Amino acid sequence: MRVAVIGAGVIGLSSAQCIINYTHPTATPLTIVVYADTFTPNTTSDGAAGFWQPYVVDQGKPEEVKWNKETFDYLLSYLHSPDASEMGLFLQSGYNLFKEPVPDPSWKDIVLGFRHLTAKELKLFPGFSYGWFNTSLMLEGKSYLPWLMAKLKEQGVQFVKKKITSFQELAPAFDVIVNCTGIRAQELQPDPELKPARGQILKVHAPWMKHFILSHDIKAEIYSTPYILPGSKFVIMGGIFQLGNWNEENNPEDHKKVWEGGCKLVPSLKNARIVEDWTGLRPVRSRVCLERQTFNSGPKKFEVIHNYGHGGYGLTIHWGCAMEVSNILNKIQQETKPSWKMPSRL
Ligand code: FAD
Ligand code: BEZ
Repeated sequence: MRVAVIGAGVIGLSSAQCIINYTHPTATPLTIVVYADTFTPNTTSDGAAGFWQPYVVDQGKPEEVKWNKETFDYLLSYLHSPDASEMGLFLQSGYNLFKEPVPDPSWKDIVLGFRHLTAKELKLFPGFSYGWFNTSLMLEGKSYLPWLMAKLKEQGVQFVKKKITSFQELAPAFDVIVNCTGIRAQELQPDPELKPARGQILKVHAPWMKHFILSHDIKAEIYSTPYILPGSKFVIMGGIFQLGNWNEENNPEDHKKVWEGGCKLVPSLKNARIVEDWTGLRPVRSRVCLERQTFNSGPKKFEVIHNYGHGGYGLTIHWGCAMEVSNILNKIQQETKPSWKMPSRL
């Protein structure tokens, strides 16, 4: 079985790893080649904060709740392993803040110690009247992607730096193509559902910040209100979510909005030194596109497994999605096994 993975962000690399971990062995050896024109440290997955949290409003997508849980539990199993620091994995506790009561999220029993805020805690955050406290995980892409890539190389996966212009280009050499192209999936096949949601964040030096703080306005777009996420080296300040905006340049007005919003939430941040601005595009869709599609290339049939459209929760959901890719690949393998017919009696 020859498999090409297009994309070397968190989705492509984890798909390759799950194919190795969970695909049933066959008579023919498994070959995996990852094609990408951008590798770590320059993908969207590298720039993201890497905080584990699905959207706060449950959108009733049971498959995604399952994939989120599988990812959290998989990461938690690594937390006290010697690999955790190299993976960029650590616990992170903190606050989700609201201006009105909201239903509990789909992930309240996935994270650790989920509870509602007390009146004393709410006094710390003027302007907010409701909230949650819980412990979750950080998985920093800038560490996790190199760790995954090194593991894949050890297991014989090849990496090719190349822009792919069509699935057909890879069809002669591969049986299955896994499409993990993030926001650029439309370059290979139209998908009117897929839209960019531009984000801009500031990385600041503020080692006194020890908790995450995400403010929400449930009437506005998610992540369009200030948030603060302490990472291993820097604290990330965010709060930009611009649907339909393809601009990957930093914008001074957005910089100001993020800085002022974060400083209003936690005034001590006024003393923080700004280290970097970063802009990235979230691959937004009503739901993750995770399905197979059969193509014909002349007389040859080949399969594409799509795995893209993870919005602002790619690191949060990646492992569950990657396991689903390996399930689909196992089904394809079953179907393409040569079928042995009993010789009929004469
Ligand atoms: P990418 O990381 O963009 O990788 C796509 C890969 O495909 C790249 O290697 C690219 O080169 C390759 N590619 C595409 N087209 C082609 C082609 N034609 N030929 C060859 N290669 C191709 N998520 C969280 O879970 N937690 C967070 O805290 C978080 N914070 C975020 C903050 C911001 C500001 C932003 C913008 C996003 C954030 N996200 C977060 C979302 C997360 O970054 C994305 O969901 C995730 O990175 C998507 O991963 P991906 O692998 O699909 O895409
Ligand atoms: C974001 O997409 O900006 C984001 C994602 C997860 C947690 C916080 C912010």
